[in-house]
Amino acid sequence: MCGIIGILGKQDVAPLLLDGLKRLEYRGYDSAGVATVYQKHLGRLRAPGKLVHLEEKLAKTPLKGNVGIGHTRWATHGAPIERNAHPQMTDKVAVVHNGIIENFAELRDELIADGCVFESDTDTEVLAHLVTREIKGGLTPVEAMRVSLKRLRGAYAVALIFEGEEDLMIAARFGPPLAIGYGKGEMFVGSDAIALAPFTNRISYLEDGDWVVLTHNSATIYNSDDLVVERDISTSSGNEFLVSKSNHRHFMHKEMFEQPEVISHTLAHYLDLGNDKINENANPIDWKNVERLSFASCGTAYYSTLVARYWFEKLCGLIVENDVASEFRYREPPMTDKTLAMFVSQSGETADTLASLRYCRAKGVKTATVVNVLESTMGREADFVLPTLAGPEIGVASTKAFTCQLSALASVVLTAAKHRGTLDRAMETKLVRQLAELPRIITDVLKLDSDIEEICRDLMTVKNILYIGRGTSYPIALEGALKLKELSYIHAEGYAAGELKHGPIALIDETMPVIVVAPHDRWFDKTVSNLQEVAARGGRIILITDKEGANAAGINSLSTIVMPDVPEFIAPIVYAVPVQLIAYHTAVLLGTDVDQPRNLAKSVTVE
Ligand code: AGP
Repeated sequence: MCGIIGILGKQDVAPLLLDGLKRLEYRGYDSAGVATVYQKHLGRLRAPGKLVHLEEKLAKTPLKGNVGIGHTRWATHGAPIERNAHPQMTDKVAVVHNGIIENFAELRDELIADGCVFESDTDTEVLAHLVTREIKGGLTPVEAMRVSLKRLRGAYAVALIFEGEEDLMIAARFGPPLAIGYGKGEMFVGSDAIALAPFTNRISYLEDGDWVVLTHNSATIYNSDDLVVERDISTSSGNEFLVSKSNHRHFMHKEMFEQPEVISHTLAHYLDLGNDKINENANPIDWKNVERLSFASCGTAYYSTLVARYWFEKLCGLIVENDVASEFRYREPPMTDKTLAMFVSQSGETADTLASLRYCRAKGVKTATVVNVLESTMGREADFVLPTLAGPEIGVASTKAFTCQLSALASVVLTAAKHRGTLDRAMETKLVRQLAELPRIITDVLKLDSDIEEICRDLMTVKNILYIGRGTSYPIALEGALKLKELSYIHAEGYAAGELKHGPIALIDETMPVIVVAPHDRWFDKTVSNLQEVAARGGRIILITDKEGANAAGINSLSTIVMPDVPEFIAPIVYAVPVQLIAYHTAVLLGTDVDQPRNLAKSVTVE
């Protein structure tokens, strides 16, 4: 996902823009650039690749000027090369953009027919030319922007600066988030509070359709009807995001080891751990009137909903449907007023998930979001907010957010079951106590870190891997495969263990390791027969199980990760950790960019 920063400052802003962009690196990018206005003239520097390349350019040819914009680009239209990097610029305006202008092709044709000359392959450049054409037609920058915005279709968060204007910046938002930061005689815009944290903690978030005219001392916000509106100014927690890796080699490693702590924070929100019961104040939903629970999410967040399905069905007797949000939103599923639509998202900004939420709201369906960034768009638009308290997750691969999503969902299931009369006090006590054990148990599992690193040395040369599991271990097998894919670039697929014999077993030979997620639970014996099918064909097995499972497996041609004994209810949360560690160590051994894997973004705010 792209990152945007803009500053109307009291000093040369280029170094500050770079600081802001560094705080946006976690979002994933493949080029970067800055532009400023100095002595009324626009200047620009851009570079492909990581920010260090832009930094080197700025050191050689510093950009002066107290007004500027910066951008980290995650390529959507056009390769990640310098001419496609932002800011996109004409002789009148410089633009940075996060999102996709869907009608850029027709606008581009129109502008070329008007004599505009394009230098890039980007959709963004059409906005630069639209505004330029209006300015050259006699409009002020503000009027030119007002007119041009009406021509755009799609998703955008943009910031613009202008030739000849040293006290003006215009920004707009439709889709991807954009925040205004209020300083003293300075103003800021940024993709989120993290980017603005070094400069201010007084933040307003633009609503969809808003656009804002900024000077050093003012912010005039217009809504989509061009009426002046006020947006709340809150004190952001962005400063708490002053994150570091502390003594860890990667953010991902640090965040995996934060799991015991942040899971306890999340559980403490939903449960009265001192009295082994749920915290009624943390439940905003009238579960008695819910007949169907409809989940729509993406990636790792989607896998958390697959686990939750087993819990909601078994403990609440609820009808549950799951879908990936990119399919859900176009399926247009029939919904009733007895449906609750739930959206799990770390960032709260994922375009497909947000569009699905908005589809449901438009249908009059109650919406709930399990979200980590509470000030995100989903956090502000859903009817019910169910927070995960994982803190900022900087590594692109989701780890602590995932186990916090599972912890929050498990807690919400207990609340729903209690309200629906399917959970008695004895069972409530038992299951709350099991959840309360999670931080200690996961602390123990993390001690397997170096053992797992050793096992991963065998995976460095493989090209394909299967993950299998049954019951709530099946979504964890899917998550393990996703983690390995996205971090090490090894092709990995997750399957329901029972599905192996329906085709995938054709793949099994000594070159195809199979990672089996199998606590010694009620499904274990069935999974053992799948293991034997694999072993009989020379497949190399890595079994993730507990002591009883290791003894019962009866197959010696395997590496075994012996986990602590855990109750079935919390097993998927605990077994998420070894599959995270396998992906992490394999990636480190292969030398990939663990915190910012190629092609990936932390939050995908485009379709
Ligand atoms: C997680 O490891 C992935 N990077 C990705 O699948 C992520 O879970 C997905 O993009 C959803 O993001 P969200 O939770 O912010 O909505």
